[in-house]
Amino acid sequence: MGIDVWVPRAFSDHAQTTASDVVADSAQPEPLDSWEALQAEVAPCTKCDLCKTRTQTVFGSGNKNADWMIIGEGPGQNEDQQGLPFVGKAGLLLTEMLRAIGLDREEVFIANIVKCRPPANRDPKPIEIETCKPYLIRQMALLKPKIIVVLGRVAAQALLNTDEPISKLRGKIHTLNDTPVVVVYHPAYLLRSLLDKRKAWTDLKLALQTYKTL
Ligand code: URA
Ligand code: SF4
Repeated sequence: MGIDVWVPRAFSDHAQTTASDVVADSAQPEPLDSWEALQAEVAPCTKCDLCKTRTQTVFGSGNKNADWMIIGEGPGQNEDQQGLPFVGKAGLLLTEMLRAIGLDREEVFIANIVKCRPPANRDPKPIEIETCKPYLIRQMALLKPKIIVVLGRVAAQALLNTDEPISKLRGKIHTLNDTPVVVVYHPAYLLRSLLDKRKAWTDLKLALQTYKTL
C-alpha cells in the first residue's frame, strides 16, 4: 500500500530541490514535461525490440483531463493498424464495461503498458515492460488521474510491481502514490471466460464506489 513510485520526482507536486540536487543538475531547472513532448518521443521510439515488428506506436487516447485512467497490456493487431488503443473486439467490450458504470470512452484516458504490439500478441517480456514503462509513468504524472483501472494480469503485475496472481489482485483497492488502483479482468479474457464477467462487474462497481467517495 502507498507505494510512492510512479510520479517521477521532477514532475511531482512535492518535488523539493536540495543543495545537492542543484550541484548535480548543474543549476538548470528540469524542463516541465508535456503531452506534446511525450507524444513526440513515443512516436519514433526504438528503445526495445518491439519497434522492429510494430506498424506504429499506440500512445493512448481519450480525455487528457480525465479522472479515470484505464491501463491495458499492449496493442493488438487492430490497435497496431489504427494507432489507437482498444479498438478491436476487446475494445468493444471495454466500451460496454465503461458504459455499465456510466462512463463514456471519451471521458476517460486509455493507455497500455507497452506502446508497441508484441508479435502474434504474445505477452510483453519483462525487459520490454521495463523499457516502456517510463512513458506510462509520465502519462500518469501528466494526467494525475483520480482513479486507475488496470486490465488483466500482465498489466496489473507490471503496474503494481508484483507477481501475485490476478485472483489475488482483483477485488480490492491498491494504491500508487495515493491514487486508488482497481484490477479488473481483461476484456479479451472475459470474451473467452463468461463465468468471470460477474467478478469483473463486481470490480467495476468497486472502482465506481471508490471514485464516488474520493
Ligand atoms: N488489449 C490491450 O491490452 N490493449 C489494447 O489496446 C487492445 C487490446
Ligand atoms: Fe519504445 Fe515502448 Fe515501443 Fe519498446 S514498446 S519500442 S519502449 S514505445
